[in-house]
Parts: sequence; structure tokens; C-alpha cells
Amino acid sequence: MADTVFQHPDRNLAMELVRATEAAAIRAVPFIGRGDKNAADKAAVDAMRTFLGTVAFDGVVVIGEGEKDEAPMLFNGEHVGNGRGPSCDIAVDPIDGTSLTAAGRQNALSVIAVADRGTMYDPVDAFYMDKLVCGPEGKGVVSLAQSMGDNLRELARAKGKDVADMVVAVLDRPRHAGLIDEIRSAGAGTRLMLDGDVAGGINAARWESRIDMCVGVGGTPEGVITACAIKALDGFIEGRLNPQSADEHAKVVAAGHDLDRILSVHDLVTSDNTYFVATGVTDGGLLDGVRRKGPLIRTESLVLRSKTGTARRVIAEHLASKWLDRDAERAG
Ligand code: FBP
Repeated sequence: MADTVFQHPDRNLAMELVRATEAAAIRAVPFIGRGDKNAADKAAVDAMRTFLGTVAFDGVVVIGEGEKDEAPMLFNGEHVGNGRGPSCDIAVDPIDGTSLTAAGRQNALSVIAVADRGTMYDPVDAFYMDKLVCGPEGKGVVSLAQSMGDNLRELARAKGKDVADMVVAVLDRPRHAGLIDEIRSAGAGTRLMLDGDVAGGINAARWESRIDMCVGVGGTPEGVITACAIKALDGFIEGRLNPQSADEHAKVVAAGHDLDRILSVHDLVTSDNTYFVATGVTDGGLLDGVRRKGPLIRTESLVLRSKTGTARRVIAEHLASKWLDRDAERAG
């Protein structure tokens, strides 16, 4: 193996950022199944921001909780980190699956993606996009420009599988009724997700997963976050803006976006230096959720880095008493 790989090991920022998603997930736990998604999100935002402040980087939030006047923390444009170190764009989703968390359902994650400054697609008012995500076998094979049936047949051929063995993740929404019909008519099966298409996309790109493809209309911010992970997994993603209301449509067109343009992974994040971290909030197919084991709180996280192509699963055991101490400190 080339010496250079080992001669200049440098810092993996994601190994530090994971503390922020762990903290967000732990702080969301009291709100799991309590019916209040805003309270869950607020607890996660607060914890994530506090921990981000300890990391040596100068991050600008490109994808956050919204504009400053509606989001007091982790708002778009806010600088996070301690201000020293690399200049980066950061996308945060303190909980992807706030409704899942509030309902006590599976598959909620806390997520951060980071890339070099000025390289993340800034969705501004574009809330929704069509997405097509799969593993490396899909490169040069699938596209949003093709029919769902063709994509399934081509990807199955590239993977050496029968279409009948293909599983496609789709958000369970009325808008996807036609798409779900197309998948089933082609002979493949669906994995309908209540929420959380970041996890769906990552599962589609991981070689050991049962999911072969993740498709459908989901959040544009989640699409950019997924693209940062896909670069590290060497997978495939395409997006195309697909406004879901007249208001969104008008704003997106006024902003000069081309609704026919298919965005590649490089359009969604131009840098090849991306980081992605996610910690399970509730149990899911990608990650275990936060668990209390006697005096310990156990978290499971995924830590990805595109430059080195590393994917780490980080299992951390946190002394629960320390988190209670922090609560007491905060209460004064
Ligand atoms: P939140 O937890 O931030 O609400 O997002 C959940 C989610 O399911 C995303 O994963 C997905 O991209 C988006 O919402 C889909 O939007 P909608 O629920 O409006 O169909």
C-alpha cells in the first residue's frame, strides 16, 4: 500500500463531532414517546450546539434549524465550533425523525455533516427534492432521468440479483402512491418508512444492507446531508428539486433554480473532503438507539470520512451520573 497513506495521517474531524450527536441523542431520550416533538428537538439542538462549541473548527451552518428569527440556535449562517481550525460548512439535523421520537417509534437519528467551506449546496427555500440513492453499483447505471422500472432492472443486473430480490426504501406518503405502484409492478419490494430518509439513503448505499435503493420526494436539506455520507461510502445519489406547494414553487423559481436539473453528488457537495456522523436516538435498522444499562448510557454512532473512506461504528458508554451532574450544574 502507498506509504503516503500512512506518512501524513491527519485529523478526522468526525471523531470529535460524534460527541455532539451523542449528546443530542442522549438529551432527546426523556422526550421519546412523550408526544412533544418540539421539546425533543429543542433538547437535542441545545446539547448539539454546546458540544459543537468545544470542537476546533470554524463552521458556518448552511443547513440548520431555519432562519435566525425563527431558530434561536443552530440557525442558518451561525458560526459554530471554537473558531480555530479548518473553515467548514456544516449541516445539522439534531433529530432526523422528530415525529418518530415523539411517538416512540424506531429509526430516529441525530445527524451532522461537514464539508470544506463554500462547498455544500444551499437549498434556501427549496424544501423538497426527488432523490435516488444506492450503492456504487448504481454509478452509470441508474438515473432520475430513467423510469423506476428501468432503474430497478439495471441495478439488479449490476448487482447480480433478480429484481424480485430488490428492496426499495420509500417514505410512506400519499405523494408516493404512483411510485410505489411502479416499484411493485417491476417486481421489487418496498420498505415503507414513516420518516427519516437520511437513514434510508445510507442503508441503500451500504453493501451489507438489505435495502438496494432509496427513492422518492424528501427534504432537500436531508438530501445534502445524505450526499456527504454518500461521498464517504462511495455510493450514488441524484436529486432534483420538487416543490410540494405553490408557495415553495414560486420561491424556488424566483431564486433561479432549474426544476429539471438533475443534481449529482458533486452538485450537492462539491468538496471531496466530507464528514458525516449519526447517533441513534431510537433503535433502527442502521443504528441502535440510546440505551440505559445500569449506571451506563450506551450510544451507537456511525462516523464517516470521505477522504480516507473510513466508516466507523462507535459504541460509547457514558456514566449516567455525569449527565445528571451536568443537569444539576445547569439548574444552578
Ligand atoms: P424531521 O424529523 O426533521 O421532521 O424530518 C423527517 C423527514 O422524514 C425527513 O427524513 C424527510 O426528508 C422529510 O421529513 C420528509 O418530509 P415530509 O414529512 O414532509 O414528507
